[in-house]
Amino acid sequence: MSEQILVTGGTGYIGSHTTIALLEAGFEVVVLDNLCNSSVESLNRIERICGKRPKFYQADIRDRKALDQIFAEYQFNSVLHFAGLKAVGESVQKPLDYYENNISGSITLFQAMAQANVFNLVFSSSATVYGAPTEMPIREDFPTAAPTSPYGSTKLTIEVILKDLAKSDQQWSIALLRYFNPVGAHQSGLIGEAPNGLPNNLLPYISQVAIGKLHELSVFGGDYSTPDGTGVRDYIHVQDLADGHLCALKAISEDAGVRVWNLGTGIGYSVLEIIHAFEQASGRPVPYKLIDRRSGDIAECWADPRKAASELGWTAKRGLIEMMADSWRWQENNPLGYAS
Ligand code: NAD
Ligand code: WQD
Repeated sequence: MSEQILVTGGTGYIGSHTTIALLEAGFEVVVLDNLCNSSVESLNRIERICGKRPKFYQADIRDRKALDQIFAEYQFNSVLHFAGLKAVGESVQKPLDYYENNISGSITLFQAMAQANVFNLVFSSSATVYGAPTEMPIREDFPTAAPTSPYGSTKLTIEVILKDLAKSDQQWSIALLRYFNPVGAHQSGLIGEAPNGLPNNLLPYISQVAIGKLHELSVFGGDYSTPDGTGVRDYIHVQDLADGHLCALKAISEDAGVRVWNLGTGIGYSVLEIIHAFEQASGRPVPYKLIDRRSGDIAECWADPRKAASELGWTAKRGLIEMMADSWRWQENNPLGYAS
């Protein structure tokens, strides 16, 4: 019998790509999502891509009753926990919503897991837990720091909770995956990132400018001490990220305890480099203007990916142009996201 995996947040951007990787690798996948930031249409697209459809429950991770029912129905080997709210700016406006959804929701999920004797967990953390390191590239043994947003605080708090949990009970086997900047889409152009309203992140914004939905990109700050003055980030293809989850699943099935891995490429690109690469990949102009820095932004952030390479056997394979071309294919084929 194939292993059963619960994927919370599995209709979202990273969860849907990882669901495909899991189905293609032969896992039986159960997706749980409350659809607050995603669409059931993603499940139809997943089926078109890989010929398999995950089981789906529209449920909230804060709903203990619903979780208990799902855990009673399956014999999960592991949980991949993507569900959460992720908009940094919104979290500043609505901190209680973020603490309640992300932290209370995660606690409820971990309680339901323990009761069902499921102790293998992969958690979607973020490079935001490093704060503003003074040195690059960022290694996993760098100290964590007070994040600049309530969103970031939820990620760091959940990491702390999971470390305490693993100390209290050695059955837990937990991967904390600190993602850098996920971009791109499945090469089919059928699934991708579908933000509600005005995009917060760079790639969805650029894509919407290139397609003519938005007029121009505002580049936040041209005076950082980086080679061209704009912010530098480690952009990673979402399919590489999905593959990283499969490697982490294997690792946690072999050893107990909590381990942390950066999922990044180890290469930093500036905002201007991204704009030019996107123009090259799409053949469309991306008009932009330089404006003031965005509050809370750091100058640069990129990963040292060697720990994941040596311990998980995972490295990112897809380069910058492929990331841009795949983002564009998704945008061009689905100008209205999943409503297209
Ligand atoms: P996403 O919004 O596309 O996916 C998250 C999914 O969780 C959505 O489908 C949403 O409907 C669901 N969800 C939210 N709250 C829920 C709840 N209470 N119960 C059930 N479902 C709920 O986001 P994503 O980009 O796919 O991110 C996935 C995870 O990775 C998140 O935890 C996010 O914080 C983390 N992460 C994302 C990034 C990024 O830049 N995209 C970077 C680092 C970490
Ligand atoms: C990238 C670069 C901006 C938009 C955020 C979260 C982080 C993680 C990933 C979840 C920066 C610049 C952006 C725009 C711009 N998410 N930019 N104009 O801020 O690195 O990380 O998403 O965990 O926690 O903080 O990503 O895509 O917003 O920005 O100039 O309209 O693009 O200043 O240099 P960021 P981003």
